Amino acid sequence: MDQKMIETIHRLPKVELHRHLEGCISAELLLEIARDYNVKLPSHDLNELRSLIQVQGQTSSLKEFLEKFYWVGMAFPTLEAVERVSYCVCRDCARDNIRALELRFSPVFMSLETPHSWDDLLHAVLKGARQAEKEFDIDVGFIIGISRSNGIKPALRVVDIAASYAGLGVVGIDLFGDEAAFPPELFTTAFKVAQENGLNITVHAGEGGGETNIKIAIEELGAQRIGHGIRISNDEDMMAWVRDKKIPLEICLTSNVQTQTVPDLQSHPVRKFYDYGIKISLNTDDPAISNITFSNELLLAMETFDFTLDEIKGLMLGALDQSFLEDYRKDLLRPKLEQELKAITSKESRKAGE
Ligand code: HPA
Ligand code: ZN
Repeated sequence: MDQKMIETIHRLPKVELHRHLEGCISAELLLEIARDYNVKLPSHDLNELRSLIQVQGQTSSLKEFLEKFYWVGMAFPTLEAVERVSYCVCRDCARDNIRALELRFSPVFMSLETPHSWDDLLHAVLKGARQAEKEFDIDVGFIIGISRSNGIKPALRVVDIAASYAGLGVVGIDLFGDEAAFPPELFTTAFKVAQENGLNITVHAGEGGGETNIKIAIEELGAQRIGHGIRISNDEDMMAWVRDKKIPLEICLTSNVQTQTVPDLQSHPVRKFYDYGIKISLNTDDPAISNITFSNELLLAMETFDFTLDEIKGLMLGALDQSFLEDYRKDLLRPKLEQELKAITSKESRKAGE
């Protein structure tokens, strides 16, 4: 990829919908938190810590990938630390020119080491993000995650807290974690309550489990978007069904390779989905765990699947349409984004024609 395109993609105003806050915590940030709050880590050497929390090559499964999160759980010793982590993650997204961001997190996971009250925790997360929004050109909405492995009781609590912060920075809920061991139907009750409360819903499905999970997520859990959804590529009828229902898939290329959701990057069905008319967005999932950036993932899509700059730009506007951010925020952002995206093309084509 030539240097000019790398710069263009970095500069491009971007929209990302599927990114876990916990998966954005780099070894550097974890070390800083550990130093400032006296947190004991298994190693305080940057490279050693990196090898503990970053995937090297592939893992054998989604479950093994998720084990990389273990030490990241130490990044939330106090509410001040929570606020700082949230600020740093949003700031780093803004530095990659992400202009609209949905960031998801699990209040259960963030309270494992220090049992924060969830109200306090949400306040801290929102405060950090609001500060980043003040300093940088970025809009952030939060998705509260229900962890599959925690069972139904915390799931109902997560729905409750998400509902009470809807419109106050929380834009939806998610179901994440080990899909193979905990299928979506276990959580029907919680998602019924979410639907009754008018919460926006996305569900990780068809990643560590089969295509039936995608159907259940949509029909029973009320998912308006699907995290990954890769398994529908096995089944033409399912592809047509998802396309006709206009349910967008949140695609995360490198994550899917690392979790062996696809055997290798070349086998990824992203181009097949796109050409078939399925709505998609491109995303990072867990950039610090995967050692990637959003810009690099877009370049990877261009390099490997021949997405053109115009297609990438279309995907950014598509992601904004698919976003759970409040309509008034989307309506303010859309014309600005359209104008900036247009200006970038004309500059590039002028340069190309010189
Ligand atoms: N799938 C399920 N759970 C997760 C993921 C994912 O891709 N990333 C972080 N938690
Ligand atoms: Zn995810």
